[in-house]
Amino acid sequence: MLDLFYKRRSIRKFTSKPIEAEKLERIMQASLLAPSSKSAYPCEFIIVDQKEINEKLSACKPLGAGFLKNAVCSIVVAGDANKSDVWIEDCAIASTFIQLQAEKEGLGTCWIQIREREYNEEKSAESYIQEVMNMPENVKILAIIAIGYKDGEKAGRDETFLKKEKIHLNTF
Ligand SMILES: Cc1cc2nc3c(=O)[nH]c(=O)nc-3n(C[C@H](O)[C@H](O)[C@H](O)COP(=O)(O)O)c2cc1C
Repeated sequence: MLDLFYKRRSIRKFTSKPIEAEKLERIMQASLLAPSSKSAYPCEFIIVDQKEINEKLSACKPLGAGFLKNAVCSIVVAGDANKSDVWIEDCAIASTFIQLQAEKEGLGTCWIQIREREYNEEKSAESYIQEVMNMPENVKILAIIAIGYKDGEKAGRDETFLKKEKIHLNTF
């Protein structure tokens, strides 16, 4: 597990190789196994494997999403605010499970933040995506996870990366 954590990096360049159905299936199993406050399970996942839709999603905010147009796959992670007041936490955990299982499958991922981000001065990134994906307003969007085969290698971390001063014992 720790080796996987050291290896994982955000990947924004992907090859055009499609993701095998079994790999995607295991990634989605991971997403559905994430813990959920009060067992409410508010998360909804939209797998996007159509290039035209990923292209539309890549325009959801001015910075930090453009690379999505070259991803073979992405997963929109959303939560039903009517089902849980902590859908954000639930969706964040599920997104992390997706990223880690994808790494285990030899794939790369990158989190694209949607919540609290703007499409333009009038519209949020969330509203833009809700329209593109035909989603109701109560299904809030946390993030999009871009997934694909890594185009090139990115060095993993080693122990020198760890900011050990962030760990406190018994008192801050
Ligand atoms: C909550 C969150 C939001 C992020 N949003 C974006 C984003 O919108 N676009 C992007 O390219 N990367 C995004 N990232 C990836 C971070 O930039 C990346 O995790 C950070 O630079 C550390 O690099 P690493 O993931 O390779 O360890 C996000 C990561 C997190 C955890």
